[in-house]
Amino acid sequence: MQTSSNRKKLVIGNWKMNGSSTANASLLRSVLPVISRFESVEVAVCPPFPYLTTVADLLDDSDVSLGAQNLSSQLSGAHTGEVSASMLHDIGCRFVLVGHSERRALYSENDDLVAEKFAAALRAGLIPVLCVGETLAQRQGGETEAIVTTQLSAVLKAVGIQDLVKGVIAYEPVWAIGTGETATPEQAQAVHRHIRQWLADEDRAAAADCRILYGGSVKADNAEQLFNQPDIDGGLIGGASLDAMSFAAICRAAEANPTTESIAI
Ligand code: 13P
Repeated sequence: MQTSSNRKKLVIGNWKMNGSSTANASLLRSVLPVISRFESVEVAVCPPFPYLTTVADLLDDSDVSLGAQNLSSQLSGAHTGEVSASMLHDIGCRFVLVGHSERRALYSENDDLVAEKFAAALRAGLIPVLCVGETLAQRQGGETEAIVTTQLSAVLKAVGIQDLVKGVIAYEPVWAIGTGETATPEQAQAVHRHIRQWLADEDRAAAADCRILYGGSVKADNAEQLFNQPDIDGGLIGGASLDAMSFAAICRAAEANPTTESIAI
């Protein structure tokens, strides 16, 4: 059965722990005139916490949205060093990354905590971008689909399908992050397809509308092939989002490959 989709391509720059006041202003000065002009692609950037408000000001006259890279699962109170969902919403964030593999691996975030953060983000009116993906050993062991399904299931169990699809899903194979080794378009499409089918088993219409981004060494020269896969709805971009020319080219590749076709689920 064919189901038509309403998915607008989305490209998010994850600056990770990079930047400075001067570098951020210079990057945005170069890139905004290009990336503010798109009609069929939505663009967002996720700077480190200290720069969120100044970047919000710099984005003010553009269509580019603001996102954060992390949030607390807690509402407020005695949680020194943490940042709540409502604070992020208050300063103008639209998106927040949840469960990035660097947070899972380096800061011991497990599936339950990720699910709590996802729920906290939604409650505050943010759009959580749920990152999932397998390590190289897991891929080589044939576990890719099982790992991704387990990561998604924790959030499904916590919030239910209707709330899960209020977020965005980002498939980021750990072995492709920051390594220069990108999943081939076919490898990425196969996992995106699996994710959409898994969503469709819960709710067909919700699956058709849910945006699933690819992340992991997306560059100007591979973005187009990735973005024209039927179940890849844009990208979560690390290193290349720090380079104005590269990020602009990646956004242009998304603009050139709108999601127009129906998908079979
Ligand atoms: P790279 O694009 O640098 O591989 O990073 C991907 C990523 O982790 C985005 O969240």
